[in-house]
Amino acid sequence: MSHGEGGKGVSPRLAGMRELEAEVRTCQLCRLARTRTNAVPGEGYVRADVMFIGEGPGYHEDRQGRPFVGQSGEFLNELLEIAGLSRERVYIANVVKCRPPNNRDPNPDEIAACAPYLERQIALINPHVIVTLGRYSMAKFFPGERISQIHGQSRMVDGCLCVAMYHPAAGLHQASLADVIRDDFRKLPGYLEQTKGTTPPPVAVVEQRVKAAEEARESVIHEPETSAVVERAETYTVAPPVEAAVSPYNMLDEGVTASPEPAEAKSQPDAVRKRKKKAVSEYKQMSFFDL
Ligand code: URA
Ligand code: SF4
Repeated sequence: MSHGEGGKGVSPRLAGMRELEAEVRTCQLCRLARTRTNAVPGEGYVRADVMFIGEGPGYHEDRQGRPFVGQSGEFLNELLEIAGLSRERVYIANVVKCRPPNNRDPNPDEIAACAPYLERQIALINPHVIVTLGRYSMAKFFPGERISQIHGQSRMVDGCLCVAMYHPAAGLHQASLADVIRDDFRKLPGYLEQTKGTTPPPVAVVEQRVKAAEEARESVIHEPETSAVVERAETYTVAPPVEAAVSPYNMLDEGVTASPEPAEAKSQPDAVRKRKKKAVSEYKQMSFFDL
């Protein structure tokens, strides 16, 4: 295997994650690109056993280009500690990588436009356990369920143990929930133990999810009704403020340290760009939008 584009001595997994981060930081595939300060690709240990998926960046995340750095992040750090984990040992991502204005809910077409990034992150990390934080990530793995019914519970989805948790912000807004959330996080070591010695989901399954998300994205960004595209990535020329957004964690990959690559716009092959719109109706029926 080549060492990829991430620099000398960088594993393919870390190189893949850096490439994805660069794409996200210059992404123009939905209207959230217009209002963001920094895109927030995610951060953490690329070989993590457990991956956390939040909803989308808030004010502080948008300013810093890093996930969960505001008040919710502080509570998340406490919850990680309760579970015997730390930011250095987990990976944290969001359903949408750019902050919706005034923290409004992300729209279905924005979620669909952004979904391939999340699926690629899941494929790269291939974690044993995925923890959903809040409605939008829960809807992806537990369609049709209610958080009040299933919080703290797990389910196998495509070979990965998924655990539904309340969003940390819920505990900040409603004090009575904070202890419920703490109790749910106390169950995490048990879930991790349960997956010890098991193999993570097969690559084929994971790749299938990426492909499905990419097809759904195409159907959205070429759909005149939704027309999520602001401007194609390859036409983006102004460098985004990546400096503020370098994560202290993404260097962690088997002890490899290297300086981050500059963000680069990625061009898409014509075939992909011009792929026929399809699955629009499928996309509209996708259960994770039925919230
Ligand atoms: N809330 C989220 O869902 N994600 C973040 O990154 C921060 C707050
Ligand atoms: Fe940001 Fe995702 Fe929209 Fe791209 S698709 S602009 S990364 S929210």
